[in-house]
Amino acid sequence: MKVGFVQNHPQFGDIQDNLSRIEEMLEGKRADLFVLPELFSTGYRFKKMDEAHQYAELVPGGVVTSFLTSLAKKINTYFIAGLVEIDDDRIYNSSITVGPEGFIGRYRKIHLFDTEKACFHAGTEAPPVFNLNGTKVGVMICFDWRFPEITRSLALNGAEIIAHPSNLVLPHCPQAMITRCLENRVYAITANRVGNENRVPDEVLHFIGQSQVVDPDGNILIRASEIEEEVQIVEIDLGKAREKFINSKNDIFKDRRPDLYS
Ligand code: ACM
Repeated sequence: MKVGFVQNHPQFGDIQDNLSRIEEMLEGKRADLFVLPELFSTGYRFKKMDEAHQYAELVPGGVVTSFLTSLAKKINTYFIAGLVEIDDDRIYNSSITVGPEGFIGRYRKIHLFDTEKACFHAGTEAPPVFNLNGTKVGVMICFDWRFPEITRSLALNGAEIIAHPSNLVLPHCPQAMITRCLENRVYAITANRVGNENRVPDEVLHFIGQSQVVDPDGNILIRASEIEEEVQIVEIDLGKAREKFINSKNDIFKDRRPDLYS
């Protein structure tokens, strides 16, 4: 199976332009699954919830979900990508999963980072694992990486790949995901953005790029630059993620001792 990421540089608030750019970047690129960054079509730094509200959409039915659904049909792929969702006047930092068969599901970020707490409501449902044409894909968003319980619970629920739309500003995540993959013998696709946002005086946000795919042995199969927009694709062997033995005596799931810790 081929998986990939899109590392983009959204212009804040220009949804149509940002979507066109994604279509342009994917021209001629083919994979079974693409992960796009958190909030890839709007930009990241909303000043307050009222502003996020202006860019929010119903899921499914909104412009970004519709765009990705038709692109998924056109190029026969699955997309997992972040957007601002509104539901019953509540605003979420969500990610959607769509494919050739249409809209598949959503995840509403449960661990909000820093100023996100003033702009979004936290999700109230556990991160999902979707069966995408026989492949089990778990979804988390950016700062969720800092809570190892998320990757663990996705893996215990059968995820073979963790899709990880992100807008990373701290430096640690790309290396930390290597450990998440080793701990759980899963693949992880982190899709980050690049560029700066200077929407609040004296608060420049710099996004670190380095989108990557890591395998269940902790190898970085592909990693993007810190500054360029990029699409990268790699062939993966799902059998590796289905095998939890690390030698003839240790199965890292069966050897767990939840009777002694939780
Ligand atoms: C983050 O969760 N966007 C850092």
